[in-house]
Amino acid sequence: MTKAQGMAKTVLRMASVSKEYDGATPFQALKGLSFDVKEGEFVAIVGPSGSGKSTLLHLLGCLDMPTHGDIYLDGVDVSDLNDDALAEIRRDKIGFVFQAFNLAPTLNVSKNVELPLIIRGVDSGQRAQRVIELLGLVGLKDKAQSMPSQLSGGERQRVAIARSLANKPRILLADEPTGNLDSKSGKDVMDLFAKLWEQGITVVLITHEPQVAAYGSRVIHLKDGRIESDLPQKPMKSDAEKLKHKGDWKKGD
Ligand SMILES: Nc1ncnc2c1ncn2[C@@H]1O[C@H](COP(=O)(O)OP(=O)(O)O)[C@@H](O)[C@H]1O
Ligand SMILES: [Mg+2]
Repeated sequence: MTKAQGMAKTVLRMASVSKEYDGATPFQALKGLSFDVKEGEFVAIVGPSGSGKSTLLHLLGCLDMPTHGDIYLDGVDVSDLNDDALAEIRRDKIGFVFQAFNLAPTLNVSKNVELPLIIRGVDSGQRAQRVIELLGLVGLKDKAQSMPSQLSGGERQRVAIARSLANKPRILLADEPTGNLDSKSGKDVMDLFAKLWEQGITVVLITHEPQVAAYGSRVIHLKDGRIESDLPQKPMKSDAEKLKHKGDWKKGD
């Protein structure tokens, strides 16, 4: 995508990053990875089970630290930061979406989305407004008072996405976000990722499904903890964007 090229800023930089898990037999899950994620990219990370995808996403999200190498977020070397500073950076700059949704089961949809705003100390008037905005964005305004258990899997994931966006992150990280969904709900969730990306957010998403990776503007293949390939591609558009272009075409017809 053109907006990801040229002078686009680097949001995340991995410099010769390795990760070894201790244990009876130490295991090297990542072996010297280097790549940048530029503002406005949609990076799909694919690879077989055990290739190191989740390990990589945990490092990108500052949830874990590399054994060797450096990770820069917005130019800051995250290994220089203490736990409090890391927690702050995660809260303010990164949105996380997980395969298992990770919603609070005892809170309704509205409260789940509001939680990150409460933690950040946003006042209640602003919180209420932001929650409405976010639920509108993911198409779930009418479910504001529902409990997570009353929602379909696809709806739960859309709530989780709304929550991940609460603090206006620089980058959205998602680990197999369609892994627990049927194909129709999975497509709805990916359509939402495409829409958010078209609106300007940077996305790094892990998947082992080719039809999900098709939404990326760039695909990184991992194998045995190494990058096997890293290539740009023409991303799949959201349904809204496709319709827009269909309209353009009709006008010119
Ligand atoms: N906490 C851990 N301790 C030891 N080994 C781990 C741990 N987490 C992951 N691994 C191993 O590291 C490798 C990569 O795991 P992971 O990043 O979860 O791969 P993927 O997400 O691609 O399936 C696997 O072989 C896995 O067994
Ligand atoms: Mg994984």
